[in-house]
Amino acid sequence: MISFVVAIGKNNVMGKSNRLPWHLPADVKFFKETTSSASKIMIMGRRTFESLPRVLPGRKHFILTTNKAYKPPAHEDVFVFHTVEEILKQLDPDQEYFVIGGAEIFKLFFPHADRLYITEIHESFGGDTFFPEYDKSEWELVSCREGVVDEKNKYRHTYYVYDRKK
Ligand SMILES: NC(=O)c1ccc[n+]([C@@H]2O[C@H](COP(=O)([O-])OP(=O)(O)OC[C@H]3O[C@@H](n4cnc5c(N)ncnc54)[C@H](OP(=O)(O)O)[C@@H]3O)[C@@H](O)[C@H]2O)c1
Repeated sequence: MISFVVAIGKNNVMGKSNRLPWHLPADVKFFKETTSSASKIMIMGRRTFESLPRVLPGRKHFILTTNKAYKPPAHEDVFVFHTVEEILKQLDPDQEYFVIGGAEIFKLFFPHADRLYITEIHESFGGDTFFPEYDKSEWELVSCREGVVDEKNKYRHTYYVYDRKK
């Protein structure tokens, strides 16, 4: 099973200058908990990998790049792939895997996605990267939870989970 984990602002913005456009530690915590469950394998584009502050502990990083010479820093939890099919072949259908972006990689994996964890941040941000348009009628809402707004988490945000309709 393939799940997307993404946070979006108004207009589906998800990135700016290869960073997140916002600071929302509660969503970082949600991301960590979600991606640390099940397989603990995160699939990402080369640009998203390079946007991470470091190799994220306790999870494997599958990086997609077209560059055959690409060498990320040597680390036991970092693996490089060059095609979607090469990644799909590694996956066990009984496990949950987490595609974490960016926009290019979400587009590639949409036909294979079974679940979407979407944090909607109810605020407008400038940005240059947007979550792809998709057919919402193919998805059903399975849960929805309001995030807590406080001193450290200033934006109203909601955690949604959608499953692909059978
Ligand atoms: N809000 C969120 O939840 C969230 C999540 C993740 C990322 N982001 C943000 O999104 C932005 C990055 O997203 P992005 O769309 O620019 O980049 P990306 O999807 O992370 O990575 C793009 C790279 O993936 C590789 N790639 C793309 N198609 C491929 C294919 N068919 N086969 C093999 N490799 C392929 C290419 O690497 P090469 O150029 O090396 O060939 C391409 O440059 C950043 O701003 C980041 O902070 C936000």
